[in-house]
Amino acid sequence: MIKTIGVLTSGGDAPGMNAAIRAVVRTGCANGLRVMGINRGYQGLIDGEIKELTPRSVSDTLQRGGTFLQSARCMAFKEEAGVARAIEVARVFGIDAIVVIGGDGSFRGARDLSRMGMTTVGIPGTIDNDIDCTEYTIGYDTAMNTAMEAIDKIRDTISSHQRCSIVEVMGRGAGHIALSLSIANGAEAVIVPEKNYSVDEDIIKPIFACRNRGKNHYIIILAEGVGKAEEIKAEIHQKTGIEARISVLGYIQRGGSPTARDRIEASRMGAHAVEILMQETGSRIVVLKNGVVTDIPIEEALNMKKSISESDLALTKILST
Ligand code: ADP
Ligand code: F6P
Repeated sequence: MIKTIGVLTSGGDAPGMNAAIRAVVRTGCANGLRVMGINRGYQGLIDGEIKELTPRSVSDTLQRGGTFLQSARCMAFKEEAGVARAIEVARVFGIDAIVVIGGDGSFRGARDLSRMGMTTVGIPGTIDNDIDCTEYTIGYDTAMNTAMEAIDKIRDTISSHQRCSIVEVMGRGAGHIALSLSIANGAEAVIVPEKNYSVDEDIIKPIFACRNRGKNHYIIILAEGVGKAEEIKAEIHQKTGIEARISVLGYIQRGGSPTARDRIEASRMGAHAVEILMQETGSRIVVLKNGVVTDIPIEEALNMKKSISESDLALTKILST
């Protein structure tokens, strides 16, 4: 019977992770469970950086960005010996099950914990929104809104100078943030790592077409996984005569107070993770499906690969005309 659960955050932090931890703690305690906070992700688990959390110890965390449990990228956990050691340490603290809040890398760690006998539930937390099994990952909405506001500001200055702005946004190897921002900010073009592109076809031609229709500023959103910002900038200048500037939004997208959506979904997902454990099941990932929080087996989740939305790519092209 599960009496004590551990909770950790792993991989890149995301706004709303605190709301998820808080929901795990308060739902767990409301159901008579003991909840242990594991600091610094899998690394803290191996190192025994574990202390009890109470409903009061998670006060004043809901509105804060980052993760108060801190996060880490732990190479030792990719080895069987690291996972075995982590389970031994967890048992010393009386932990019967672990809730892992993170992205797909973290879920691979959760799967390995499950395979070696530790009951585990994953909650999707990453700004990248690159996990196929769920319509939503915690942190995405805040990151999107932060980036959208920043790009609105960039638009003010580039329109004053009739310039082109190449805005590089986060997402690692995925272009979901970039593509959604291209719609939210009305970009003239978007380049994502999932799609081959040609600078002439996908950037230069749209710029000429927009200029001929009377536009005097151009926003190109570039997913960081593509790279090539400097080369694209040089080609734009050389082929159109338009001055281009590069803005790398970077970590600003990962920080800040979570939006209402992130707080609410994170709270629902955190509570659902505990409900799964109350039923004595594990090896599951909490997901949002058709707008409802539910769960699927972890192995199934890891076999799914998210593709880029063709309809959103087409929409960006139409709306930029
Ligand atoms: P995310 O969970 O956001 O995808 P990362 O992939 O950057 O973030 O980090 C995931 C972390 O999960 C790794 O640093 C590592 O500590 C842990 N991990 C454990 N097992 C694995 C695994 N088999 N593959 C990848 N990451 C793993
Ligand atoms: O996965 C979240 C993310 O912010 C990615 O968008 C980005 O590529 C990566 O993490 C950056 O990681 P790090 O914190 O190691 O620089």
